[in-house]
Amino acid sequence: MTVFGELRDQLRPAGRLASRPGTRPDPRRSPDRLRPRVRRRRVKRERAAARLVEVEVLSKRVPPALDGVRIGHLSDLHVRTGVRPRRLEAAVATLNALRPDLVALTGDYLCLSTRPLPRLTRALRALEVPAFATLGNHDHWGGARAVVRALEAASMRVLVNASVELRVRGAPLSVVGLDDAVTGHHDPDRAFRGVGPGAIVLSHDPKSARLLGAHRPALVLSGHTHGGQVYFRRVTPFLAARVGLPFLAGLFEVEGAHLYVSRGLGAALPVRFNAPPEVTVLTLRAAALGSSRAA
Ligand SMILES: [Fe+2]
Repeated sequence: MTVFGELRDQLRPAGRLASRPGTRPDPRRSPDRLRPRVRRRRVKRERAAARLVEVEVLSKRVPPALDGVRIGHLSDLHVRTGVRPRRLEAAVATLNALRPDLVALTGDYLCLSTRPLPRLTRALRALEVPAFATLGNHDHWGGARAVVRALEAASMRVLVNASVELRVRGAPLSVVGLDDAVTGHHDPDRAFRGVGPGAIVLSHDPKSARLLGAHRPALVLSGHTHGGQVYFRRVTPFLAARVGLPFLAGLFEVEGAHLYVSRGLGAALPVRFNAPPEVTVLTLRAAALGSSRAA
């Protein structure tokens, strides 16, 4: 049986809400870290496997019409020269099986070389869900124009300090792509031009969520940190904060918006410990509906 078939058989509806306004912060982590109830399942038991992480985001900025909208999220693919992108192919198959309403890609498709880009295009072309992408620091270091061409060749909509207005399940939803802040290419005012509150933002650098308060997004999707990549409890978050990475992985609340930081799918240096690669599916929940359900 294919990964598809196995996965489909395992799927069950998502459970309890992952985050609620006023959730008590975890004192062991960053002060604005939320405590999401996150389900993790191994997509495929092999070296190239990633974990499927499902997160529910309960927000007052999600209108009732968008309650239940599901967003697939991939970040930091880091497609490498000489390595078949098996993990990426499995991730695409997983998302095709789960059928989210849209997929967000939040940068770092390369390590440094643009040579593997045809492999990236081939792998992403198999995605059967509308997908939107922004760029990361490695893409600018390696060749941003070539990356944009490769993504567009795979029918991804690339949003570089730009936005698009979608209709999802009959309701309007703005998707904003903020260019990479690590390399200084971000321009929030340009990216949000004509965009109202409640947008979904793709931004490689999670710290850039701190710049978006005035634009009142509902959810910011990021990567960049690889979850610390080599993660020792307390030590890695402490060291990461010292080098300017306060949001390592998971769900946070920043400037009134939710921020989700993916551990990413690949890594420029292929070493990970306690920071498994992930495929994420986030479900939007309207806070008003959430409270009436709980009543
Ligand atoms: Fe990265």
